[in-house]
Amino acid sequence: MTIWTPRLRNAPGPIYARIADQLERDVADGLLHPGSRLPTQRELARRLGLTVVTVTRAYAEAAQRGLVDATVGRGTFVKDAASAQRRPGDAEIDLATNVLLGGLELGFTPELIERLTASLADSYRIGPGSERHRAAGAEWIRRARPDADAGRIVVTAGGQQAMLLALAATTKPGDAVLAEHVAYHGIRAVAAMLHLKLEPLPMDRFGVTPDAFDRVARRSGAKVAWLTPTLQNPTGATMSERRRRDIAAIAARRGITIVEDDVYGFLADAPPAVTSHLPDSGIFLTGLGKSITPALRVGYLLAPAALLPRIHAALSATSLFTSPLGAEIAATWIEDGTAARAAAEKRRLIVARHHLARRILGKRIADTPSSHLWIELPERRRADDVAAAARQRGVRIATAADFAVGEGVPNAIRLCIGSPATIGDLDAALRVVDSILGSRAAVAAAPPPVV
Ligand SMILES: Cc1ncc(COP(=O)(O)O)c(C=O)c1O
Repeated sequence: MTIWTPRLRNAPGPIYARIADQLERDVADGLLHPGSRLPTQRELARRLGLTVVTVTRAYAEAAQRGLVDATVGRGTFVKDAASAQRRPGDAEIDLATNVLLGGLELGFTPELIERLTASLADSYRIGPGSERHRAAGAEWIRRARPDADAGRIVVTAGGQQAMLLALAATTKPGDAVLAEHVAYHGIRAVAAMLHLKLEPLPMDRFGVTPDAFDRVARRSGAKVAWLTPTLQNPTGATMSERRRRDIAAIAARRGITIVEDDVYGFLADAPPAVTSHLPDSGIFLTGLGKSITPALRVGYLLAPAALLPRIHAALSATSLFTSPLGAEIAATWIEDGTAARAAAEKRRLIVARHHLARRILGKRIADTPSSHLWIELPERRRADDVAAAARQRGVRIATAADFAVGEGVPNAIRLCIGSPATIGDLDAALRVVDSILGSRAAVAAAPPPVV
């Protein structure tokens, strides 16, 4: 029997869930191996000074998350790799959708329900959001933009609408806009709607290079750039402090408005935002879909005062104003700390899942924890074939074609590790991908991929 005694941190949430959380962490961290037998419920209850009922509930929760198997009379075992293997007929596992499941259980307190009920009597509030909702947005954004103030915040329907508003306010049909050469597909939708031409920016493993930024800006004459400097989607690249300063300096020199997308910023301790060097021209935006829950559809945009009238007009044209119900929930959770705890918990889960992914996929993936993993493939393994083979074995993944901004499509795949419901599902899906990709030696011997 494994001598396993969970360290119960002083975290919020019921004790049984915290035991299951710790088990999940320890499996992901390799401290508990597949096949290990857990202490009996009575024994663990004794060690932790808890009732047997609480530990029984914790084990049931762990079983429900796919972490352990319990056999009456034999005991409770950490699921082994074989049992995590996919069998024909198993439900498909999604590694294609960039959603960060799990974390804190969110709920509505009676006070919040009262506030929401009161706001049902509100009239149309056309504009960027109430003072309180914008102040909450400024507080949320201050992590990356310490200068954020409520007066320059616009409450939006998620990061996606914030992108639309930012580009609607800074471009006219036919304009060129700079964007990373593989990018979140939402930018293609915005560009198509506003009749903009996206100009792909080459990247290395730390994101767009200053040289490329300068060169493409000069050649295209673009006056707007949309960039995701932290945990770029799909590549996971994060720009260094130096690079951020260099890009900001080029943008200032060339009169380029940077639209900085920070929806993944909460997952990293990144250097100051690129737009923190351009407070009078840059637009900074984020959404709460990744950090809190996609169900909220709330985001925040911080813009220089001179651009606000055009942004307000774009907001008015697309939705008049953002749902005060969503904005109220978001503001309350930001004020009372729920939002920060939820984001920290998601980050912790992603770090644990990334740890597991590194154990299975090794150096194929970057060592910086991220919700999305980018794997460049050697020439002989076409990304489409890998995706089709994975699909056949019940795992959905995305390929670079889903993100290409220009003509050249890299030969690469993206795996989203926040999406599978359980760590067991993630483990099984990553093993499927690993076995399709073949031996690591073969990948290591391949020429370095071009990005
Ligand atoms: C870089 C980037 N920006 C914006 C979004 C949209 O975020 P939201 O859900 O807040 O609209 C996404 C979603 O995947 C994204 O990857």
